[in-house]
Amino acid sequence: MAITPTPADKFSFGLWTIGYNGADPFGGPTRPPLDVVDAVENLAKIGAYGLTFHDNDLFPFGCTEEKRQSQIDRVKQACADTGLIIPMITTNLFSEPVFKDGGFTSNDRSVRRFALRKVLRNLDLAAELGAKTFVMWGGREGAEYDSAKDIRSALSRYREAVNLLGDYVTDKGYDIRFAIEPKPNEPRGDILLPTIGHAMAFITTLERPELVGVNPEVGHEQMAGLNFAAGIAQALYQGKLFHIDLNGQRGIKYDQDLVFGHGDLHNAFALVDLLENGGPNGGQTYEGPRHFDYKPSRTEDITGVWDSARANIQTYLLLKERAASFRADPEVQQMLAAAKVPDLALPTLGEGETYDDLLADRASYEDFDTDAYFGGKGFGFVRLQQLALEHLLGARN
Ligand code: GCO
Ligand code: MN
Ligand code: MN
Repeated sequence: MAITPTPADKFSFGLWTIGYNGADPFGGPTRPPLDVVDAVENLAKIGAYGLTFHDNDLFPFGCTEEKRQSQIDRVKQACADTGLIIPMITTNLFSEPVFKDGGFTSNDRSVRRFALRKVLRNLDLAAELGAKTFVMWGGREGAEYDSAKDIRSALSRYREAVNLLGDYVTDKGYDIRFAIEPKPNEPRGDILLPTIGHAMAFITTLERPELVGVNPEVGHEQMAGLNFAAGIAQALYQGKLFHIDLNGQRGIKYDQDLVFGHGDLHNAFALVDLLENGGPNGGQTYEGPRHFDYKPSRTEDITGVWDSARANIQTYLLLKERAASFRADPEVQQMLAAAKVPDLALPTLGEGETYDDLLADRASYEDFDTDAYFGGKGFGFVRLQQLALEHLLGARN
């Protein structure tokens, strides 16, 4: 079964994903470079609506003004020709030797000033291209050695940087919001703001917290052993899910960047249900781009690149269809009710009830039969999960 994507699905891809040439720490490229115009044309063909990139995916670090401008003109023209948009851009603060100890939080102050200038320039480009989200992944913001990095100073410098960027977009009148992308490690031994929770807590310390949210990536949370869908639920709950990086990861190891769903499929199912339907009790959904940050495996040639790009889209759409069938199943609704899933949405105190009223309510404590929970009152969560699995496998419709 193949489902046809539309621009309303908002599928986007990083130029660095389909453009990944297969190089890893153990071997060089297995594929030739992919030109940006080729990338845009093929993305349009497979039903994506957007392209994203780092400044240096589009033009090389330190290139001439002419080269930079010609690449910008070429991507603009390709987008105009195909109808693709550029919903997000980001800055490379990790590849060049100058960033070996990070950008905003390098121990070297002159590197920090250079990083800020590079990002400000890229913000102007974001505004010019109409990108509404500016992702910040601090891959090199971190350390290998506890003695070498003062984390509190690093957080202060990161905060100083994000505050300055917030001032800049506000003063310039740019319609741009920032999304911090957490990752626990790789390339640094430990990266600053390693999880969704760390990033959201950091955001509350900023001068313009409303301008800053998160861009969580499936594999990054799973590298930390965390439940991605649960983290996304909290980001939605706190109004901070500004962007998302979808991919697949199998357990706690290096960042695999597999195709979406080629890792923890159960969690991917829960995630799509959450993004599309708001989760079990139908809360806030996600309206932003469904952005794939995966790597076509090193084993693939260009056919495999586009097959894997399509696979991300197909998996997402299939899971969306499966999540709809799960929700429409009357038996599921029954099991959800039996498992008291909707009841968790009920406030624990009645309207206007005070702690004095609670203290006076004998049924809530003195007369409450806690013994009934031994050998009885099972929740039936396993049956519910099995129903989810049967929908996921297409055994129920
Ligand atoms: C990684 C990250 C990056 C970022 C990208 C956008 O682990 O390499 O996921 O791919 O998403 O730099 O900021
Ligand atoms: Mn990653
Ligand atoms: Mn990412």
